[in-house]
Amino acid sequence: MRKVNIGIIGFGNVGSGTAKILLSRKSFLAQKIGVEINIKKVCDKDITSKRNVSLDKSILTRDASAILNDPQIDIVVELMGGVHPAKEFILEALKKGKNVVTANKALLSECAQQLFREANDRGRNIYFEASVGAGIPIIKSLREGLVANKFNAIFGIVNGTCNYILSQMSATHCSFSQALNEAKAKGFAESNPTLDIDGLDAAHKLILLTYLAFGKLVTLKDVFVEGISHISSADVNYAQELGYQIKLLAIAKKESDELEVRVHPTFLPNNHLLSSVGGVFNAIYVSSDLAGDLMFYGPGAGQLSAASAVVSDIVDLTQDIKAGLFRPTLNSVEDTLLKRVRKIDEFESRYYIRFSALDKPGVLAKISGILAKFGISIASVTQKEKQKTQIVPIVMLIHETKEKDLHQALSIIDRLAEIKEKSVAIRVEV
Ligand code: HSE
Repeated sequence: MRKVNIGIIGFGNVGSGTAKILLSRKSFLAQKIGVEINIKKVCDKDITSKRNVSLDKSILTRDASAILNDPQIDIVVELMGGVHPAKEFILEALKKGKNVVTANKALLSECAQQLFREANDRGRNIYFEASVGAGIPIIKSLREGLVANKFNAIFGIVNGTCNYILSQMSATHCSFSQALNEAKAKGFAESNPTLDIDGLDAAHKLILLTYLAFGKLVTLKDVFVEGISHISSADVNYAQELGYQIKLLAIAKKESDELEVRVHPTFLPNNHLLSSVGGVFNAIYVSSDLAGDLMFYGPGAGQLSAASAVVSDIVDLTQDIKAGLFRPTLNSVEDTLLKRVRKIDEFESRYYIRFSALDKPGVLAKISGILAKFGISIASVTQKEKQKTQIVPIVMLIHETKEKDLHQALSIIDRLAEIKEKSVAIRVEV
């Protein structure tokens, strides 16, 4: 049977999970694919700590060049994370004629153009299934299963930490910081969860989904990113009263001949399929022209879930190697009807707004007068009863409005003497 040698750089959580699957399912996989996958070397700066898989000490190394310079290694699996030196290792692997598997969304979202071009020029491939939604086969589905389709939109809950926090706030009416602390205690959130709660991790994944669906490799600068740390329990509770859930959505959407690429907290109606995705689960909702609307759902993180996707990429490459095939990575065809990526000011959305106002005659008239001046139409309005303070929440849903108009209107409203706190505005999707 043909043997394919792999080298793994990064023996952490996903790296050791990958090794565990490849060893424990070696003959199972060989029977399925007709190739023996052999782990030839594993590199990490720490090769002494105990992992949940035991490897022959002779294959462990602290020196990545032992993998990159080994002519018998066909596939380099980069699972170290971070941009540097992962990027240099991948470039070197391609230069040495190796194919690459990576789960590194931060690196790809920054350097995909250069890495894919290098791979293409050298007739090699970079596969990255584990970079979005861990074991959910969304990348393979977009590239292969849905290859004949054109896409209208992709909406995703692609960050489990944020989804856990928002789900807990909704279920227990706790504050953002209480939910975050709970996520940390349960091991769902990193000790420094900034990338997650600021929406950047979701933005990295959205850049890859946008490329696969629309063929456009946008940069982080093109993506509007707003995190969830300002979401209050009051807003989560009002959302529920109005029949909505707040979710951090990553959205790539075609609007006539332009593309909107954005990550932000979103009011989603309870009857939307994504509203029922709770806890650390991820889900990606794809609107395609031939296959219709589809949803991909599952755990978006976890050692074996991510490693399952890494192994799937390794297996795909072994099949390419066996068949002598080259399937170029830069094969996403740009939707030629798309002229540009919209700027945030041009977005149009429905909105939930919460004003904190003094309970006095004429306040609502002043607010609605300013909104009207900017052509903003109110869909519903509720004023809550006064509680301990003189300040009352006025909760509004407004019809589609241009982002720019809303922000100008809110900045005038927030300067009124009767408005006591900065108004809160959250986008609403249907
Ligand atoms: N930190 C990510 C999440 C998982 O919370 O979903 C890795 O992408």
